[in-house]
Amino acid sequence: MGQINKVAILTSGGDAPGMNAAIRAIVIAAQHYQIDVIGYYHGYNGLIENESRLLSLSDVNNIIHRGGTLLKSARCPAMLEIQGLKQAANTLLKEKVDALIVIGGDGSFSGLLALQAYWSGLTIGIPATIDNDLDGTDFTIGFTTAVNTAIEAIDKIRDTANAFDRIFIIELMGRQSGHITFNVGVACAAEQVLSFENVKPEQQKEKLSLLAKDIQSSQSNHHESYLIVMAENLWLGGVTKLVEQLKEYANIDATACILGHIQRGGSPVAKDRILATKMGVAAIQKLMQKKSNIMIAEQDNTITEISLENAVKHTKKVSQGLINAQEDILALTAQNQC
Ligand code: F6P
Repeated sequence: MGQINKVAILTSGGDAPGMNAAIRAIVIAAQHYQIDVIGYYHGYNGLIENESRLLSLSDVNNIIHRGGTLLKSARCPAMLEIQGLKQAANTLLKEKVDALIVIGGDGSFSGLLALQAYWSGLTIGIPATIDNDLDGTDFTIGFTTAVNTAIEAIDKIRDTANAFDRIFIIELMGRQSGHITFNVGVACAAEQVLSFENVKPEQQKEKLSLLAKDIQSSQSNHHESYLIVMAENLWLGGVTKLVEQLKEYANIDATACILGHIQRGGSPVAKDRILATKMGVAAIQKLMQKKSNIMIAEQDNTITEISLENAVKHTKKVSQGLINAQEDILALTAQNQC
């Protein structure tokens, strides 16, 4: 491939705070190397329907602090079909795009890998998802902001829980992984953290009885409040079912709270703005070196790259140290703090 003249970018999948900061960094870095940037709207749908516009410096002015994504996002089932992949490839060929940068999570990167069968331009992924579940990078863009947002909300729930000596069960996002749940649970001093890493589906009955016992012992020791932080998609029937089960099993009254999409919004914290900026600049620099089929990553505070195949092969595990600290020390200490 000769010189790179035109780079396409899109944001795909669940939006994450810091996506705008990444778009900004890409546009500024591309301008530095005299490369045009074409932004596609609504994720891969924008490629399939050729919905795009050239992005200039003025388009990315004043967006580093904004949540969401200026390019909009979407999940795009059409990218699982040959027809959709061909349409996306045709757009890139027609518009003479040399490279495509996708800002998103593992589903978005699988789309990028599949597209390579129909288009031979350079491809780069930038990891942005609140779930932090992509392997090969210490953090994904948006995770830290989502954790902080959830902490702020749960601290408020703690106030009202204390006022009424109430029990709350709070459901957090994360799809099938517990990065948000464990980090938020520990940071909010939740009495219990329930996630995929410490509760297997076959253990739910046993866990219910342990929870009931622990809540009862905490109540008899005049604890002011009791918070259980739980990962979405973990408990059969979700938080409302667990509330029902505690009532039926042990006559315990608990209140369910699903924190939901509030975790995806808001202004990115410093760490996400900086990570997104480093990754956006690195993406353009890697393209200048003709690198392709990679995800930009940060490991031990150093920007690096890993192959897209490896990025989607495994789900990143929650820190075992954090799980152990919660399970072996903190949760037990909560029980004994009387
Ligand atoms: O991947 C980000 C995420 O927010 C997950 O944590 C959650 O399971 C999912 O997206 C929700 O998706 P949607 O907004 O499409 O319901």
